[in-house]
Amino acid sequence: MQHLPSNLRLLIGAGLLVLVLAGLGVYFQSETSPVLEDGEIREADAPLPMTGIDGDIKNGVHVPTGFIAAEGVHLVIAHCTACHSAKLVTQNRADREGWQQMIRWMQRTQNLWDLGEQEAAILDYLAENYAPVKSGRRPPLTDIDWYELKD
Ligand code: HEC
Repeated sequence: MQHLPSNLRLLIGAGLLVLVLAGLGVYFQSETSPVLEDGEIREADAPLPMTGIDGDIKNGVHVPTGFIAAEGVHLVIAHCTACHSAKLVTQNRADREGWQQMIRWMQRTQNLWDLGEQEAAILDYLAENYAPVKSGRRPPLTDIDWYELKD
């Protein structure tokens, strides 16, 4: 180093410093950005391949749509919120076959496109997270305060 001009040495020093700081930045960023903020991660969900929507997930729910944050949710957000609200999806329950029938019905009558290779993952997500209530994780609701739907 001694034979180098002092301004070049300064430049090399500054360059090294920047590298170290950048390295530290990357290290600490990956340490402090968990997918879910409050720890409610179900086993199947970690790590989630959901680039771009992670920040919208709170308590295991993708807040803007209300979808349960689980494997495949990014596909469902992409394909199933284009024509109607996510609520139409989340308020329904069905097994895999039932979900497939709904998709086929939309394809026949509502111009839903071919979901191609992603259909299987979408059906897995729907059947797993929006299964018929009797076989779901929660017991059926009781004492429901029904109200009349008006149109
Ligand atoms: C191309 C437009 C379009 C896309 C994309 C779409 N749907 Fe639909 N879907 C519709 C229409 C139109 C209806 C009927 C809406 C109504 O009755 O108000 C509907 C209704 C539904 C219903 C209610 C069915 C019922 O029996 O009441 C469900 C559940 C549903 N869609 C789920 C999905 C899912 C899951 C996806 C993603 C795979 C999806 N939709 C993507 C157009 C679409």
